[in-house]
Amino acid sequence: MIHQPFCLKAALKCLEIGFALALLGASLNAGAMEEGSEGGWRLGVVKPSPPPIVPEDERGNVHGSHPLLVVERSSGNRSEESVNTVTFLPESLVHYDPGLANTAECKSSITYIDGEVGILRYRGYAIEDLARNSHFLETAYLLIYGKLPTEAALHTFIQRILGVEPLLEPLSAMLSAFKPSADPMKMLAALLLALGSHLEIAAGDYDALWLQLLGNMPPLAAMAYHRMQGTNMPALTNPNSDYVGLFLQRLLGHEFSPEVVKALDLIFLLHADHEQNCSTSTLRMIGSSKADVFMSIVGAIGALSGPLHGGANQAVITMLEALAAQVTLEKPIEAVVAEFISAVKNKERLLMGFGHRVYKNYDPRATQLKAMLPQVLEALRQAEDPLLKIALLLEGIALEDEYFIKRKLYPNVDFYSGLVFKALGINPRFYPVLFAIGRLPGWVAHYWEQLQDPQQRICRPQQVYTGEGLRHYPEDTSGVSELAPFKALL
Ligand code: CMC
Repeated sequence: MIHQPFCLKAALKCLEIGFALALLGASLNAGAMEEGSEGGWRLGVVKPSPPPIVPEDERGNVHGSHPLLVVERSSGNRSEESVNTVTFLPESLVHYDPGLANTAECKSSITYIDGEVGILRYRGYAIEDLARNSHFLETAYLLIYGKLPTEAALHTFIQRILGVEPLLEPLSAMLSAFKPSADPMKMLAALLLALGSHLEIAAGDYDALWLQLLGNMPPLAAMAYHRMQGTNMPALTNPNSDYVGLFLQRLLGHEFSPEVVKALDLIFLLHADHEQNCSTSTLRMIGSSKADVFMSIVGAIGALSGPLHGGANQAVITMLEALAAQVTLEKPIEAVVAEFISAVKNKERLLMGFGHRVYKNYDPRATQLKAMLPQVLEALRQAEDPLLKIALLLEGIALEDEYFIKRKLYPNVDFYSGLVFKALGINPRFYPVLFAIGRLPGWVAHYWEQLQDPQQRICRPQQVYTGEGLRHYPEDTSGVSELAPFKALL
């Protein structure tokens, strides 16, 4: 029983008073709000059965004050506040929230982020701790199963993943439908859908499903790479290599030193989950209809491919190369960068690899990447990469500039990862696929979590309709209608 005028008033009022509140008929329970211990925001939850201070009107709208349970994230303290002057429908207040910047769609115990201070934790473990002590497959296990594996469990997990026979042969034919110039993310998506149709896994055997996904993803990605490059996938030179080492052999045809393999492993680990980012939210949105995991992951791959999300690693290198190409004797790199930064501040360009919806501080993943760069570039004999110099120059200027400071724009995970991929000699068009390989455990963990969550319902957001009111075919073409005034409100 949404009535547009009240719904809009409520939404606008909510924005005005800045509540982090999404009430799409969902019944968040107060006990779930205690998680999290740092950071600034507060979570507001309308108490389950608040007695309206002013009784409902004839439409069921509640006017006047309304009690609101508020939980401080920093302390966990609860208090009750009164939402004054808000007029809303208790069951169907629509929070107008473009980009879902302020809407909690689910409860999750996988990843914790406090973007104000740059904290990222998987299952409670700090990303710095995992980067130092763990590796990608162990972290994948942690994300999916919620705890670190015992040594024996890890051994079995890894052996079963490495033991997966990738379905290269039956799926390779479908790649001929793609031109080599096609986006490899599209090839990967198609391959995963085909994989889903080929696998014969007993219903309910999710463990087998996760293992097949993790085991097939890198070889299938490598197959897409070779389609794109117009080359054949090389035979393995060392079949006893580890997960990342095998992938590099399939991708680039030779072995790399342990420190280089470790660097790519770390990049995958740093990408492994990031709570409700665009692709994971897409996955959950699709999964909420009980679509299978392949359909859900393919949707996530689509979301990830965009340059504002996983495509940013490629876009960073394109940007850096374009800047490098402008350098001449008369125009040194400093002048080129200064001109580019001016264009960014004039909103003509985006500084790719900068900014984040949740980080208002240095992205902790970028910190890790930046720290490992010199060593890995050295190992790959790319320490003098001119793009690194440009990246450092851009970062240095941006972090001192009022435009970026005011907007709290810092390097994100994509700012430095492309430099490692480039040093490895990988075609930049493939970089988003590398992000997808890293993100797979997170997608699996979220799909699984959602499947088990009894409170999850099919995702079905609201909208604020700004179109025409009732028109009559064919006479009424004036465009003037009873709902037209709403356009002016937004
Ligand atoms: N360069 C220049 N200005 C920027 C940038 C940027 N990279 N990012 C944000 N801004 C400005 C933006 O124009 C806006 O300015 P104003 O207040 O004057 O309108 C302000 O900062 C707030 O930005 P926003 O667009 O409202 O922020 P958002 O949360 O909607 O978008 C973002 C986040 C990541 C899409 C955006 O920062 C961006 O486009 N960055 C470049 C692309 C990129 O690096 N993406 C990778 C993200 S990290 C990996 C992942 O998980 O996807």
